[in-house]
Amino acid sequence: MLDVYKIREDFPILGKKVNNTDLIYFDNAATSQTPNQVIDVISDYYKQHNSNIHRGLHSLSADATNKYERSRTIIKNHFGALHEHEIIFTSGTTHGINIISSGLEKLISENDELIVSEMEHHSNIVPWQMLCEKTGSKLKVIPINDNGTLNMNEYKSLLTPSVKFVFINHVSNSLGIINPIKEIINLAHTNNSKVLIDGAQGAAHFKINLSELDVDYYVASAHKLCGPTGVGFLYGKSVLLNSLPPYQGGGEMISNVTFNKTEYADLPHKFEAGTPNISGVIGFGAAIEYMNSIGFNHIESYEKELLDYATENLKKIKNIKIYGDVDDKISVISFNLGNHHPSDIGSILDQYGVAVRTGQHCTQPIMDHFNIPGTVRASFSFYNTKSEIDLFIDALKKASNMLG
Ligand code: ALA
Repeated sequence: MLDVYKIREDFPILGKKVNNTDLIYFDNAATSQTPNQVIDVISDYYKQHNSNIHRGLHSLSADATNKYERSRTIIKNHFGALHEHEIIFTSGTTHGINIISSGLEKLISENDELIVSEMEHHSNIVPWQMLCEKTGSKLKVIPINDNGTLNMNEYKSLLTPSVKFVFINHVSNSLGIINPIKEIINLAHTNNSKVLIDGAQGAAHFKINLSELDVDYYVASAHKLCGPTGVGFLYGKSVLLNSLPPYQGGGEMISNVTFNKTEYADLPHKFEAGTPNISGVIGFGAAIEYMNSIGFNHIESYEKELLDYATENLKKIKNIKIYGDVDDKISVISFNLGNHHPSDIGSILDQYGVAVRTGQHCTQPIMDHFNIPGTVRASFSFYNTKSEIDLFIDALKKASNMLG
């Protein structure tokens, strides 16, 4: 069992007051909070180990390099990759997607087709639209059903021989729905298509094994996993990463430079030009260790308990409409209250110290599907409590009374 009150002591921000009341942080899908175990590692890095990596022969540089590379091993082990060099550090999920979309420019042609879904974050739509513009290839879209799930029959019929790539999120950031990615990957591979999974929301809530999934590319961000902002990783099978050109030229990504010809470094350095976010990567490793010390099995079952409790109590509120209310989902609830604009609800909740996200959540096609301007999104983490949910529900009822 997870001792939530003990865990909360690890997060200094959870003791903060907002608008003269205790902060209730239900915007975890946007970014998670950071425990002392991660803050201290980052602070210690700058106090004791700050140096550039992979460059200096001196002890401090070797120390920083070891810590940076240790994070790569932690992440490789945690996500079940086969090799360290298949983990590329990025500035986050969007960066990882752009490394692939830019790398595919010369490998995709006008007769090729790409598949995304209607429930993607804009960061898993726009780079592929840009790739289509540059290459003349065609983007096809898997529609969602009215309960928010992917229409798998449509997916099967869209998977024609010209489809080279499928780009799907593991978990919808605005609805919380978990997609059947194993089935999606298997179907794509049977069609000789490659798959990139946007794991920004999935990686934080349950353990995954990239080798067992047999996914081609997987991207995620540290800041959704109790880590710092500005860092994430791109996983790719070696053979595929080796087939792509580098994303940026610069130091660290070369093995030999002359004015006649430059040779690129091997993986992972080929994709890590310039001085990386060293403290961020080290903090990312510490965050994964912290979450594993709690245990992803405990995190998953406790968050499910919070989700069920909140869903049951929200449904008792008059005129509430929850979007994506299905069994297979993480602790995210997207809803509207009558015809009230989501931002009006969000602003009133903020007065009661409750932080939620309102609007389109960078998923305009989902909002268009439901013909709504946006939703209120409450997203829970393993450090939230049922009493916070009670206070949130009370605040919501007050908002409903105020707005009439
Ligand atoms: N993609 C993040 C969210 O869903 C920022 O809020």
